[in-house]
Amino acid sequence: MTSGAPIRLKKALGQGFRRVPAQAAQHLWTCPEAEFAAAAQPRDTWWDAGPDAYFGQAYRAIAERFPGQDAATTEQDRTRREVDRICAVAREHFGALTPRILDIPCGYGRHAEELARRGFDVVGMELQEGYLRAAKAGGAALYAAADMRRLPVATGAFDLLVNMWNSLGYFLDERDEVATLEEFRRVLRPGGLALVHGDLDRRAALEGRWVQHMKVPLGDDVLFLVRQVFVAERGGLVCLSWVAFPGEEPLQSPAFFLRVWDDAAWERHARSAGFAAVRIERMRADAPGAPAAGREESVVLLTA
Ligand SMILES: C[S@@+](CC[C@H](N)C(=O)[O-])C[C@H]1O[C@@H](n2cnc3c(N)ncnc32)[C@H](O)[C@@H]1O
Repeated sequence: MTSGAPIRLKKALGQGFRRVPAQAAQHLWTCPEAEFAAAAQPRDTWWDAGPDAYFGQAYRAIAERFPGQDAATTEQDRTRREVDRICAVAREHFGALTPRILDIPCGYGRHAEELARRGFDVVGMELQEGYLRAAKAGGAALYAAADMRRLPVATGAFDLLVNMWNSLGYFLDERDEVATLEEFRRVLRPGGLALVHGDLDRRAALEGRWVQHMKVPLGDDVLFLVRQVFVAERGGLVCLSWVAFPGEEPLQSPAFFLRVWDDAAWERHARSAGFAAVRIERMRADAPGAPAAGREESVVLLTA
């Protein structure tokens, strides 16, 4: 990070994060899981826009500094590696055909832009206006505003849909998740493919082995801390994060939620959404020093 970077990071965190006493944060970091789960209640639309929005400047500023498999991996490296994977899957599934791609939600366009630069016809869709503006500035792909549960897209318009970096599983009501899968199926032509990528180790989360306390350096002695507790009744991880600048009270994020389906649930929901086949690929992310070394990443491939 350059010298002005901590100030820019702090400014970005002004949206969504709030300063809390270090003792209170320390308590939430260490308290029993049930107490944490009761305190970290995500609001119904924590993923939406609004003054206490989770996604926005703050999320982006952290994601840009979030190390990949090792501390030297930049967001660009991560994006290239993820796009390499999309391309490999596309080649395997579509052969010589160059698929028309929908990236939903595309965030600030990091995959959509890289895919468009590699010659794909790509549309990125996203809820946050600010992210869409940043994505459009890239100039390579096309973009539109959309809620992933109701896509402004004609039936069968795309060959390949990509949903990258833990971008499914936000809705507190599971029916919204299922509606999203139905939309994904609807916008694909028969024989098309949906690729759902996540670096959350679902098996570890379901078996209680997922890293509950994650500490990630963001540079300049700034630490990003996340506590994620699996709550069976909710069917997912309830999470809070903090950013700690040296010598200051920490900044705390709004609570957020990630639903975790096991393989059987994936199979059931994908089939009921009309997908013909479900394949789950797992990759190891073993690099020493990784935020969650030894974890499994996964790609769920759904054939329409
Ligand atoms: C974890 S980020 C990933 C973004 C992008 N795929 C990437 O890897 O950079 C999740 C994104 O989902 C968007 N999002 C959340 N809920 C959404 C919804 N209901 N419809 C569309 N986008 C949504 C957020 O605004 C955010 O940009």
